[in-house]
Amino acid sequence: MKSDALGAAKVANGLTVAPCLRQNTDMTERFTGSFTQQEPIPEEAIAAAVEVMRGGRLHRYNTLAGETAQTALLEQEFAAQTGARFCVAVASGGYALGCALRAVGVQPGETVLTNAFTLAPVPGAIAGVGAVPVYVGVTEDLVIDLEDLAAKADRAEVLMLSHMRGHLCDMDRLMQICGDAGITVIEDCAHTMGAAWNGVPSGRQGAVGCFSMQTYKHVNSGEGGLLITDDEDIAARAIMLSGSYMLYERHLAAPGPEVFERVKYITPNISGRMDNLRAAILRPQLRALEAQVDRWNDRYAVVEEGLRGTPGLRLTKRPVAERFVGSSIQFLLLDWTREAVQEVLARCAARGVELKWFGGAEPAGFTSRYDSWRYAPSQPMPSTDRVLRGIVDMRLPLTFSLEDCAQIARIIRAEVSAVFQAQPPVRAD
Ligand SMILES: Cc1ncc(COP(=O)(O)O)c(C=O)c1O
Repeated sequence: MKSDALGAAKVANGLTVAPCLRQNTDMTERFTGSFTQQEPIPEEAIAAAVEVMRGGRLHRYNTLAGETAQTALLEQEFAAQTGARFCVAVASGGYALGCALRAVGVQPGETVLTNAFTLAPVPGAIAGVGAVPVYVGVTEDLVIDLEDLAAKADRAEVLMLSHMRGHLCDMDRLMQICGDAGITVIEDCAHTMGAAWNGVPSGRQGAVGCFSMQTYKHVNSGEGGLLITDDEDIAARAIMLSGSYMLYERHLAAPGPEVFERVKYITPNISGRMDNLRAAILRPQLRALEAQVDRWNDRYAVVEEGLRGTPGLRLTKRPVAERFVGSSIQFLLLDWTREAVQEVLARCAARGVELKWFGGAEPAGFTSRYDSWRYAPSQPMPSTDRVLRGIVDMRLPLTFSLEDCAQIARIIRAEVSAVFQAQPPVRAD
């Protein structure tokens, strides 16, 4: 993979694109990079991890007198970075979601609103606390359908809002709808660490924000989760839930002991703590997050620009208020037949470009849909189904150079155009 230096020109949203990258129309070029190869862990993080291992004190509460655990420091730093009062580090993003549901008081049998377009751990977290997901539709710009949300607002007291694939909806309007209906919002920020809406960091508008540090996310500790909130009771419950025994005073981004007095006898310990090794790996990565976001967005801009104007292909509109993190890109082959989409996927795959599709008859890999989660009954959602059938999704790891991104876009553009010309889309239903 080569460097970023391409003499790039500035385009909208502060992103950069080199116009020359779109010229090549060679139908035989093949991409040889890996869509699942992340960057190495930074040397500073490796050194910090080695130090933790040398000390042997990997458990977050295993500290020497006067020593502060890496995990507690991570929580303190992430709270400061996001402007949250409180932060809890846990074992995974999925654990953070389940912990948040419990901490806001969701009881078994209750309903929880959530996105029809998200990943399996989101409805899974709801089912994990014995609650029942009620799905809200998706728009052509891949955000939660706020009309549908308003229509269903009387059906639950909690919304688990998934910023799926990093698309932020009009958060002001969403918070207005939820505020009016008395709905508590939990934000699933697995794909929006480093993103913001009108300058407000993702995860800071709901009562709770939940993040994932699993390998394919914006910082990488293999597995890991962070939960942020400004609510002292939610924070104290989340800390107790995460498995703090009665050692909560060792947390730095936590409420005072008087708050724990209110919750400590009535909150179960459902162990899902983070350890010091992962925290040590994450702290330097969080310090570098802003620069990484810029690098992702440079790549996103090259692919977006390369795909712009491709016949039959719809790019999602990104609102000016949205500061997103382009760690993946989606486009719609709206109203294409399943066969035509499959043809595009096969042709791109043959040229080394790995695309995921949310419209397959059967869920594959990461791409299950609301109607795949049959433990939670759902009604058909025709306009959402139309969008889901057209969503094509691609990761953009930082190991791709801008030249790689330009080549990938050229390949997709050529293959989508070829299939489109051979069989223009008709409504699939
Ligand atoms: C949208 C979304 N939410 C939540 C999660 C859960 O994160 P984790 O894998 O850390 O449990 C994921 C992980 O893939 C995700 O993609």
